Amino acid sequence: MNITVWKSTEYHEASDVHILWIDEGGELFARDEQLDQDTQTMVQMLREDQELSGKFGEICVTNLVRSTKPRKLLVAGIGQKQELSFEKIRKLTGKIVKELNKRKTQSAYISLVGAEHIDLPIVEVAKIVSETAILANYRFTKYLSQDESSQMERLDIVCADEQEAEFQQAVAEGVLLGKATTSARDLVNEPANALVPAKLAEAAQQAGAEYSFDVTVYNEGQIEEIGMKAFLEVGKAAINPPRLIVMKYRGNPQKSDEILGFIGKGLTYDSGGLSLKPKDSMINMKEDMAGAAAVIGAMSAIARAKLRTNITAVVAACENMVSATGYRPGDIIGTMAGKSVMIKSTDAEGRLTLADAVHYIVHNEGAKRVIDLATLTGAAARALGNLVTAVMANDDDWYQQVEQASRLSGERICRIPLVEEYKDLLKSDVADLLNSAGANGPNMILGGLFIGEFIPETPWAHLDIAGTSWAEKESDYLSPGGTGVGMRLLYYLAKLSGQEQ
Ligand code: BES
Ligand code: ZN
Ligand code: ZN
Repeated sequence: MNITVWKSTEYHEASDVHILWIDEGGELFARDEQLDQDTQTMVQMLREDQELSGKFGEICVTNLVRSTKPRKLLVAGIGQKQELSFEKIRKLTGKIVKELNKRKTQSAYISLVGAEHIDLPIVEVAKIVSETAILANYRFTKYLSQDESSQMERLDIVCADEQEAEFQQAVAEGVLLGKATTSARDLVNEPANALVPAKLAEAAQQAGAEYSFDVTVYNEGQIEEIGMKAFLEVGKAAINPPRLIVMKYRGNPQKSDEILGFIGKGLTYDSGGLSLKPKDSMINMKEDMAGAAAVIGAMSAIARAKLRTNITAVVAACENMVSATGYRPGDIIGTMAGKSVMIKSTDAEGRLTLADAVHYIVHNEGAKRVIDLATLTGAAARALGNLVTAVMANDDDWYQQVEQASRLSGERICRIPLVEEYKDLLKSDVADLLNSAGANGPNMILGGLFIGEFIPETPWAHLDIAGTSWAEKESDYLSPGGTGVGMRLLYYLAKLSGQEQ
């Protein structure tokens, strides 16, 4: 979808649909907008006939009896104007775009002229509308030989003439974030037979070439030379060999030591290995690289926006499969950090790849603060559902930054404690650590504690996105499949770190 900003004096209504927002008191959101006579009469009639209460989420679409565009009016309720929030605007934009797509509308416009009477900053509103319109318009259709559905092609946003520059900038950022999120969704939705580790690496390289960041890909032999033993164990059963993907963006060369480390879990498929998953739990396991998708998307957005910060991102990409060459429950394996691990479950594989990735990013890449995103435990999904991401952190200041990024992005998080005492559950008589405590332990926390053992001195935050990375069904600005969660949070984290330096 193309989103264009227009000065109100230069806009000539060439779109199919005019979008209006109305509150419960009957006041239009953009109150200075010049409405033509047809539109005014129609809004008045709808109010009189009580078809337009202005209740939040209510949508009313009607034809205007005329031959010129726009010939349709969509009026959306924003509820009580003092209760309006960014999240409500996201939901409302999602509902509007989905309604327009259902009606096979190609283009629409919305005016935000004179909407300053609402408490929210109007330029931010424009950014959020743009971002969410792109998210709501997204569907994964690549493998359909016939697709009857329709997607909007154009949204025009009209602003007061003197605000044009600010609007242009905000909408450009919104579009950037929307597109980077849908590119992350595309990667998640790509099935595991197509997106093998080498393909994920190629996708990162393509993004690097397009948005100007550096990408190095290491093959199996090179990963062995680096010493990432645990990572290699996880990929050993697979025919498709692993890849270590290292991405670098340097937007602040004056502070070349200040490097943020991003890590994304990159299991292109997780069958569970010999600790095989039940068949129903396997179906969506192409999503086990959602952390990697968010990280690649974020690198693209950060480089595109030329943020003043330095990021190194790492994805240890592999497949967790079943074969005679694979690792087994009971094996004792090595790690890059030198600790030994006794495998209690081959399905607790993500933490093994991440243990090596966190060690690598600190020791080989010099990252000073690290964040990992991983579809790590079913327990995170059970505890917090699909709207809130679990975060564990070993450093309060770093967590505060993550929280601020969460607020800016609208991606909700909840801090979970790394309970020291639970480390006992990962103790073994024969190795330094167990990779799991079995089915009944506090599994979400144990996942965090395990990774934390490999990054003892560097501020680190771990996001368990197992619940939030996948949508089972359609909702306001999501469609079934990958959500792209974490991409926007990472972008704002990078932006905050740029402002701090
Ligand atoms: N990739 C899974 C976690 C997962 C579950 C992601 C559901 C997305 C949706 C992970 O590798 C896994 O299998 N975790 C185990 C850990 C257990 C063996 C300690 C789990 O959560 O059951
Ligand atoms: Zn697993
Ligand atoms: Zn997994």
